Amino acid sequence: MPGRSPSSRRSSCLDEPCSGLDPISTAKIEEALSELKKEYTIVLVSNNTKQIARATDYAAFFYMSKLVEYGITSSIFHHAGGATDRRLHPREVRIMPDCALKTEELNLFYGSFQGLKDVDFCVYTHSITALIGPSGCGKSTLLRCFNRMNDLIDDVTIKGTVLVTDRRIGSLTSFHEKKGGHGVSAAQPLSRLSL
Ligand SMILES: Nc1ncnc2c1ncn2[C@@H]1O[C@H](COP(=O)(O)OP(=O)(O)OP(=O)(O)O)[C@@H](O)[C@H]1O
Ligand SMILES: [Mg+2]
Repeated sequence: MPGRSPSSRRSSCLDEPCSGLDPISTAKIEEALSELKKEYTIVLVSNNTKQIARATDYAAFFYMSKLVEYGITSSIFHHAGGATDRRLHPREVRIMPDCALKTEELNLFYGSFQGLKDVDFCVYTHSITALIGPSGCGKSTLLRCFNRMNDLIDDVTIKGTVLVTDRRIGSLTSFHEKKGGHGVSAAQPLSRLSL
């Protein structure tokens, strides 16, 4: 889009970035995320509700492949606040008109199993958005729609729209079609490589 700075186009997808880390390392990562969101839009999966409460602006709750609740984290989770609380608050006004990442009627199938059902979702520019919910609800699956890691999984069917800063991606229908025609490099048999 004309006039939009290149930095606002950058986004980062993180799947449980602090899983298994000690509290000091976790705090450092949260501090870094807070700095990074000036330049990046961040969407992360976390199963740590305290971390979500203290470190994210928005939270999207998934259940059985569906997005069932989405809002400002501080209105979903209560947190003591204080000097280290850098989250967006209900009365705080920030101008964030853009969706950095967006899905419209997104349905994803692993074979016959439906991993995402009718997901309409928007990740606001320069925010930290958490994907939360019980194991198997589709958090990582959605993240992989944005960074296209699903392209590497066989037998995935994606229907609907995935937009990354207004550019449509993820309309590919099968692994073999992706390998053949959409710029994902296919493995070359050794005999065809010139060494
Ligand atoms: N490659 C795959 N093939 C078949 N089914 C898959 C595949 N990857 C994920 N699934 C299934 O899709 C559903 C959603 O998986 P996903 O990894 O997105 O869950 P999640 O919410 O990230 O869970 P967790 O919190 O355990 O990481 C699960 O039922 C999972 O078994
Ligand atoms: Mg996961």
